[in-house]
Amino acid sequence: MKIIMLGAPGAGKGTQAKMIADKYNVPHISTGDIFRANIKEGTELGKKAKAYMDKGELVPDALVVDLVVDRVGKKDAENGYVLDGFPRTIPQAEALDEALSKMNDKIDYAIDIDVPDDNIVNRMSGRRACVSCGGTYHIVNIPPKKDGICDVCGGKLILRDDDKPETVQKRLSVYHEQTQPLIDYYTEKNILRTVDGTCSMEEVFKAITDILG
Ligand code: AP5
Repeated sequence: MKIIMLGAPGAGKGTQAKMIADKYNVPHISTGDIFRANIKEGTELGKKAKAYMDKGELVPDALVVDLVVDRVGKKDAENGYVLDGFPRTIPQAEALDEALSKMNDKIDYAIDIDVPDDNIVNRMSGRRACVSCGGTYHIVNIPPKKDGICDVCGGKLILRDDDKPETVQKRLSVYHEQTQPLIDYYTEKNILRTVDGTCSMEEVFKAITDILG
């Protein structure tokens, strides 16, 4: 099963993508996580990506497309994957379709998690991410068992640099301008499914698994 997660920053794509990956035993491929890992390791890619991410802008398509096309061609992705944060522009979506069609393959579902902008700002300011495993929490909605510590690996939980309110506003406007057109793109391909992302994490997951079967 090959799935794309769509939705505004903070809509819950990462949260749901991890749950889908666990249930259906497919890799969770998050471009945001790949960039953050590169930043942490101080790679050239990380240095380039950070400059855009800190401003709330998208990393140029040229730095993302080959990376994802290469990743979905790996052995562990043969039976499916959940793409989280990619594609984010029409050129990225077209490049992915082209690469997949060369492999005689295609995306099965694009799941759009719908959350209004007002809810997003609150979610982002309360989000805490694990520096070690990337696990995500919310200080009110989905708190860790122990303050500031990841339930899964015991790593330190931090506020992401790009979750500051002014950067979140910028990310939202970039989303509406560059990523939202993908809703029409996948509607036309008849693979778009929309779920209400304002419900609890479990209810959103139930809606998604009802679609995926
Ligand atoms: P990325 O890491 O992909 O960020 P994003 O899309 O902005 O999404 P987020 O990770 O912020 O949110 P999410 O939807 O995953 O929500 P989450 O589950 O964490 O990208 C970061 C940056 O990298 C981009 O800005 C860009 O610069 C660059 N980049 C990445 N991919 C790129 C690409 N393809 N092209 C170009 N540039 C790219 O949930 C958010 C919070 O809400 C959490 O605290 C969570 O616990 C809570 N929550 C989740 N579900 C619920 C619920 N149902 N109810 C209440 N709270 C909930």
